[in-house]
Amino acid sequence: MSSKLTPDNELDLFFSADLISDQVKAQLYPDVHLRPLASTDYHRGHLAVLSVLTVVSDPGESNWLAQFHSMRAASKTYYPIVIVSKQTDRIVGVGCVFIERKFLRGLGSVGHIEDIAVDKSQQGKKLGLRIIQTLTGISENSGCYKTILNCSDENIPFYEKCGYQKKENEMAKYA
Ligand code: ACO
Repeated sequence: MSSKLTPDNELDLFFSADLISDQVKAQLYPDVHLRPLASTDYHRGHLAVLSVLTVVSDPGESNWLAQFHSMRAASKTYYPIVIVSKQTDRIVGVGCVFIERKFLRGLGSVGHIEDIAVDKSQQGKKLGLRIIQTLTGISENSGCYKTILNCSDENIPFYEKCGYQKKENEMAKYA
């Protein structure tokens, strides 16, 4: 298999790749690579994969990049990751954990898993599971006392397979 993958050391990564579990990476199929989001991922189909999840409008590269830098400026808060196909250097899976700091629980923190999506052609190959395992590991290694997420009823079995349990309800008010 010829590889078009851009090595991590040639990328401007959102956070250090050392925070990603080697154990999880070792369980990935050999044709994909899991790493932090990079500043050039606008060109690797980042928004196209997110559109599997919900409505995504293209803000243009400069606005995408401004968002990347403004999120990264919030130190130790956002941890966006991607899975890239080695054959094409295109993104096939995405996810993020957001670390919320609190005044309660002895100034504790909570990890919020957000925006999980796997390209339709790659679903069912455990990429979603590896994304959740990676983000949960980052949350727990950041000292979070719990990691939580919202999902549809259809996705409950997937998250149960990832070790999560249904707890309480979600409330929402859209502007
Ligand atoms: N119903 C039942 N079981 C499921 C489902 C489902 N909808 N989805 C996955 N599973 C099971 C798999 O069969 C597998 O089980 P196994 O270990 O017994 O073989 C296990 O869960 C792991 O599945 P993966 O192969 O890792 O799942 P995949 O890579 O397809 O990713 C995901 C799952 C992320 C839900 C994907 O289907 C997707 O992108 N869906 C559209 C977008 C979406 O709904 N994202 C989640 C939104 S919630 C949030 O962002 C917090």
